[in-house]
Amino acid sequence: MFTFDFLFHYHNENQFVNIREHSWTTICFLFCKISVEDYLEICMKKNDFHQKRIEELRQSIERHNYQYYVLDRPQISDQEYDALFKELERLEAEHPEHASASSPTRRIGDRPASGFSTRAHSLPMYSLDNIFSLEEWGGYTQRLQRLLPGEDFAFWTEPKMDGLAVEVIYEQGVMTAAATRGDGYTGEEVSANMRTVRNLPLRLIPFSNVPDYLEVRGEVIMSVKDFEELNRTQLANREKVFANPRNAAAGSIRQLDPRIPAKRPLRFFAYGVGLVRWDAPGVDLDTQAGIMDALQRSGLSIAPGAVLCRDEQAVRQYFGSLEAERRHISFELDGMVAKVNDRNQQERLGTTSRAPRWAIAVKFKAAQAKTILENIEVQVGRTGALTPVAKLRPVRLGGVSVSRATLHNQDEIRAKGLKIGDPVLVQRAGDVIPEVVRPITEERTGQEQDFVFPETCPSCGSRVGRIPGEAVSRCPNLSCPAQLLQGLIYFVSKAGLDIEGLGKKWIEIFVDKGLVASPADLFGLSRQDLLELERMGGKLAENILRALEQGKQEASLEQLIAALGIRLVGSETAKLLAERYHDLDALAGAEPEQLALIKGVGPEIAASVASFFRNPQNLELVGAFKRIGLWPVSGSRAAEQEQTGALQGKTFVLTGKLQGITRSQASEKIEEKGGRVTSAVSSKTDYLVAGDEPGSKLEKARRLGVEILDEAGFVRLLE
Ligand code: IVH
Repeated sequence: MFTFDFLFHYHNENQFVNIREHSWTTICFLFCKISVEDYLEICMKKNDFHQKRIEELRQSIERHNYQYYVLDRPQISDQEYDALFKELERLEAEHPEHASASSPTRRIGDRPASGFSTRAHSLPMYSLDNIFSLEEWGGYTQRLQRLLPGEDFAFWTEPKMDGLAVEVIYEQGVMTAAATRGDGYTGEEVSANMRTVRNLPLRLIPFSNVPDYLEVRGEVIMSVKDFEELNRTQLANREKVFANPRNAAAGSIRQLDPRIPAKRPLRFFAYGVGLVRWDAPGVDLDTQAGIMDALQRSGLSIAPGAVLCRDEQAVRQYFGSLEAERRHISFELDGMVAKVNDRNQQERLGTTSRAPRWAIAVKFKAAQAKTILENIEVQVGRTGALTPVAKLRPVRLGGVSVSRATLHNQDEIRAKGLKIGDPVLVQRAGDVIPEVVRPITEERTGQEQDFVFPETCPSCGSRVGRIPGEAVSRCPNLSCPAQLLQGLIYFVSKAGLDIEGLGKKWIEIFVDKGLVASPADLFGLSRQDLLELERMGGKLAENILRALEQGKQEASLEQLIAALGIRLVGSETAKLLAERYHDLDALAGAEPEQLALIKGVGPEIAASVASFFRNPQNLELVGAFKRIGLWPVSGSRAAEQEQTGALQGKTFVLTGKLQGITRSQASEKIEEKGGRVTSAVSSKTDYLVAGDEPGSKLEKARRLGVEILDEAGFVRLLE
């Protein structure tokens, strides 16, 4: 007894939590009479062994991350990488005592935070003064001459990246924190999100002495290609699309749930440092170029194309080549930044309250062109949203012909003061989406006409409504032909049931000919129906019918939920719903409170789902799916429990404060066992669980004869 107590004690003191690991050694110790010293040594060695392997894996994975994300020269295959990663994940799970925030496994995103805390910067993060041409560059260098007469200046020049400024802190070479620029003095602490940025080293490469303390500053960005790809996915999943790569990068880093940035292709490019304590031979901290070299050798990415210019003339050449090359650079840049190279000169030049005097941003001209706003069309989307689109007289802009531009919503048209027939300035914002900058009022002819945003739906004529606080007007008519058409197109698209060979073109024809008025009708189409259509041959008809039949047989519940096009429900949410409910009937019967309890489904989504199924037309559609046999059932464990749980079909209301369990835990437990939790007591309520200070619900339950449970009774019932 004494021995075991001693052993446990010893283990705990040394944080050898996993005593099972040592059981054979323990038996030897107890029965084979090995000495206490030997026993302890063996224990430590085993533990050392795991720790060593974990450390080895972390280093090796980080090295491969560096090869892949920074150098773009992977040295192992994806499978080999995955195997290392899995081994590390397993060892870390088995040995939580060796957990580390700087482990590459943390790059997949920690748990969500409830809010960001703020973090003060040790040195202010200044902004940059802007100039807009090389003439102004001349003015800038003259000012430098005036401030430090007779001195020569070399300049470190690099692209000005368009993203979000972030400071990353390394202590003894390990990344320990990160914060956004914020107001320059205090930013938001975004360490967990920054850990998911794949090219950001979690440990620095010790190419010389490791810095004691290092604040690296830089920009988090997304490449144009990655941004476009992300928007395509967001669109397909009915999730928010971003206006430009900058918003996408900034929006991703400012997410409370790090699993979101973990899935986004973000990159960090260093452009400078804050406070530095680094005593290393061979590291030149006296020039900007030396600092950037040291950062790069430490494993950080620096802005591609950064160079040292010997004088102000070389900067002019650099600017010219950067402007010419910008099309071939994979991310958006809106100009060049030139920084006085010598840190001593930087110090003597100092800063204004806003920006350093030793650095300047020279902006590029945006690709802009003049044209005529010929008309404003209003399109009706699948959810009834009315979106104004500018019809432009075609004009070449940044190498492409532009004839349409987004106007987002009616407020934007009003804010810009646009009239139909206006001469307008258009630009390709960040070279991605064309937009109307402003009307050229001085060139108006007087023939321009005010644009009146329609009060009725351009497709069905219903009066449109605007939800207070939303910028978008919506058509409320669920049978609106435009909404129906868009809804059908969505239903068969990749985001929905993914019916091969059935695209927008055919759906338009089906609706036009009156063959189809709801998604369920698609499955009732006959060979004869199809053959009567122009340009439809026997083979094509057969293919379409086969694809529809296959879609009907193979659709998963998740796919069908996604295909319904419920507002705010993309494929990810559909998956969560399908995991929780076993079929569409169960989902349709769910209360919003119950839906909102599902992790990842907020109250807004819950309300949207509930309101979708409150609509009689939509319920009819669900009935039609059942009749025609489009009725997938999810086989998930949660859903099965729901069907067979001990509290199946029972409805609970919780009131008052519970002592040993939180309300949301209680709800979870009830639902795990197949019960439902609602907010109001009614004659359909089976149990009222009353904690301390229960209030009026208790009275009502008594009046209606609902069974009342105190906390102890509730716990017994659960058991
Ligand atoms: S230096 C010297 N260098 O531009 C201190 N900033 O408009 C200021 N930015 O907040 C920063 N690329 O987020 C610097 N190569 C670059 C940059 C850069 C983009 C951003 C940075 C800054 C903003 C100021």
